[in-house]
Amino acid sequence: DAGKSGYEHYTLKEIHEQPRAVRQCLRGRPQPFEGSISIEELEDVPRPTEVQFAACGTSYHASLYAARLFRERGVRATAFLASEYDAAAVPIDEGTLVVGVTQSGETADTLRALRTANAVGARTLAVTNVVGSSAARETDRAMYVRAGPEIGVAATKTFTSQQVALAMLSSALTDDRSGEFVAALRALPDRIQSILDDSRAREIAAEYVGSDAYFFVGRGLAHPVALEGALKTKELTYEHAEGFAAGELKHGPLALVTPETPVIALVSGRANTERMLGTITEVRARGAPVVAVTDDPESVERRVDRVLRVPETHRRFFPILANVQLQLLAYWVANGLGRSIDKPRNLAKSVTVE
Ligand code: G6P
Repeated sequence: DAGKSGYEHYTLKEIHEQPRAVRQCLRGRPQPFEGSISIEELEDVPRPTEVQFAACGTSYHASLYAARLFRERGVRATAFLASEYDAAAVPIDEGTLVVGVTQSGETADTLRALRTANAVGARTLAVTNVVGSSAARETDRAMYVRAGPEIGVAATKTFTSQQVALAMLSSALTDDRSGEFVAALRALPDRIQSILDDSRAREIAAEYVGSDAYFFVGRGLAHPVALEGALKTKELTYEHAEGFAAGELKHGPLALVTPETPVIALVSGRANTERMLGTITEVRARGAPVVAVTDDPESVERRVDRVLRVPETHRRFFPILANVQLQLLAYWVANGLGRSIDKPRNLAKSVTVE
């Protein structure tokens, strides 16, 4: 228990370690005077014309976020589930970079995807937390996430650090320059700390523990984090949880929504408040309680049941902050149910078989 520094679980300790993990991930990389990002490991890497990500679980959600960031900067980019990546069916050319995103660097499905990419002559990069891992050794280059060791089976601080690392990667490999982006990156550790200091996730979790299911909805850059919020809830609570693109609710999932299924809505004032309010109206009309995770509480307060606030930040970083509230919510629901939080049933930290 000494290693838990007074926290009841490693998972909670690691959630609270995120400001430090992100500081380590950032160290030396943002260049405030130039408004650019410099990644030592990748200095002379040619700029890709296309990026293909391959990853599993939480790392796949980080990859979905990253692919969108590359596309916003004009580079074709796709995230694949590593177990579904088949280089024969995904055309590559000399401008393609295949990126394996893997915390452990040992996930068999991700290693297989990287080996397939190597075999067809693609350029490969590993984004990993473990120096000298198989993924780092078997690719042309490795970028390290530097989150520090994670003991909880469910990824928390490593996901946040992956998002930060991949946001930097998308900027560095597209030669983007933005003083605002770099300043917001450097402010992330303090923004995360303020969420940890003030979160109401514990009391909101206590209200909704025992629900039939938990649904997470987001749009755009927040969609991957809706998927991750649901995955974290499944892993830690063993309850039914699903993440949806807000616009897809009406195409099927709405049939699942009842007064016993809280909907957690990611609402960013910098991106999509109006359209998310439409989604919120749809689910409330079916009686579902709505918890908004938002940087725009004034616009949503009267339209939802509960609010989890996040500080304002660059539009691209809203999902990183919102996710911290989702981690806390999943943790406190699981705690209320007395689950085995650090070692959820049936799960392993690193899955080394296909
Ligand atoms: C396992 C873990 C997940 C993790 C996934 C990918 O399933 O339980 O938490 O996201 O593997 O792991 P990786 O080390 O490749 O990121």
